[in-house]
Amino acid sequence: MAFLLHDPRHLGPRGMPGDAGLPLIGYTWQFANGSLMASRERYDRYGPVSWTRALGKTFVTVNGPDACGEVFANRDRAYASGPGWSVLIGPFFHGGLMLLDFDEHHRHRRIMQDAFTAERLAGYLGPLNETVIQGLRQWPRVGPLDFHPRIKQLTLDVATRSFMGAPLGPEADRLNVAFNDSVLAATAAVRFPVPGLRWAKGLTGRKVLEQFLRPQLPAKRATEGPDLFSALCHATDPDGARFTDDEVVSHMIFLLMAAHDTSTTTLTTLAYYLAKHPEWQERCRAESHALGTDVLTYADLDRLPSLDLCLKEAMRIVTPVPGVMRYTVRETTLLGHRIPADTYVSLHLWNLHHLHEYWPDPDRFDPERFAEPRREDKQHRSLYLPFGHGVHKCIGMYFGQMEVKAIMHQLLLRSRWSVPRDYEMPLDLRSLPRPKDGLPVRFAML
Ligand code: HEM
Repeated sequence: MAFLLHDPRHLGPRGMPGDAGLPLIGYTWQFANGSLMASRERYDRYGPVSWTRALGKTFVTVNGPDACGEVFANRDRAYASGPGWSVLIGPFFHGGLMLLDFDEHHRHRRIMQDAFTAERLAGYLGPLNETVIQGLRQWPRVGPLDFHPRIKQLTLDVATRSFMGAPLGPEADRLNVAFNDSVLAATAAVRFPVPGLRWAKGLTGRKVLEQFLRPQLPAKRATEGPDLFSALCHATDPDGARFTDDEVVSHMIFLLMAAHDTSTTTLTTLAYYLAKHPEWQERCRAESHALGTDVLTYADLDRLPSLDLCLKEAMRIVTPVPGVMRYTVRETTLLGHRIPADTYVSLHLWNLHHLHEYWPDPDRFDPERFAEPRREDKQHRSLYLPFGHGVHKCIGMYFGQMEVKAIMHQLLLRSRWSVPRDYEMPLDLRSLPRPKDGLPVRFAML
């Protein structure tokens, strides 16, 4: 039983504050249920840089704007994204842009950028708007409605239409399950394939997605269409480099995942707070009416200032990607703390967005904190990072915001929704944040 008597102070990098948590499992439970990233307890106890144990590994946890900013800036190229994220999602999303590093990442990012130009984004918006119009026709005209599953279906339809170029047929349900299983596997407590458990389901999910995409490559290569799949097949960097077939498939799988759940979470949070704060819902609706257009065009995206404030505040309170992973490929120093090579590092973005030192009353929905003259986000250059920062900053940042605004614009013009005054949305943080109860709202088409 000697392992139960270990002195946890000897397990972390020398001189760094921290603790190992429970014998054997450490903080695996808090890691898996999301509470490690969402709590400021470690920050209060140990400061911005501390060590802990979870998933059988030693982690350095990074909190606060100075420390997060330094890791993202990565001046000595010590922090790698691929091996950091791989511990969570590697077997399911290998080959995705976020899992590549340094020169290889740079090469891929330069090619992929070609699929995210302003011209391309404007091209994706047309099919996106059409999909939303068709999708909303399936919603009930009036009555109770679980918002999260409805919006998840809608964003999946958008992803498959704008990304794949065609709506999904009978395979839609199977693919949805494959996505969910791959994403949920990231925080599996049992991290090897046991039939029926999260890890094994994630591996099957990856296979299903590959088998779905691969046969479509020849047609996508043959003609250039307005969808992302086609754009990736034809994308070139300024020197003419292109992706191989395997690279296109891996990027597509990662992009579908990166785009789908993040947008769903953001839309759900936004809908929740607009339901809790009808005065903001009306303000946003009035601006959408004032635009005088049923569907947003690319040029309209900056013309909905209240929606913009609400979106920023929704992403602050319920940070869609609550934490970011890195791995040190060489020894480095962070705010005076030595971090050895081969150490996992987790950046706690959720906590960053809730530090009451910077965000007064941090759990309160207060979109004006992003408006002049308050601009609370401007107090520190690394204080508000829902899309990350540095070379791995979200390549879909504009796509994601475009999608959220385009869908919300149509919802505001066509419907009104509310929740009881005392309702609080219960969150499941096991993977990306989602409401445990599906977010039940009272819904009415106008
Ligand atoms: C509200 C929506 C979204 C949020 C909050 C979000 C958040 C993030 C964050 C925090 C990162 C940085 C991860 C890191 O540094 O390790 C990231 C990276 C990435 N995101 Fe997003 N994302 C969103 C939407 C999208 C969309 C719509 C796409 C694609 C269409 C996308 C594709 C990517 C890709 C490819 C990366 C990796 C970039 C790289 O490593 O160079 N994201 N995202």
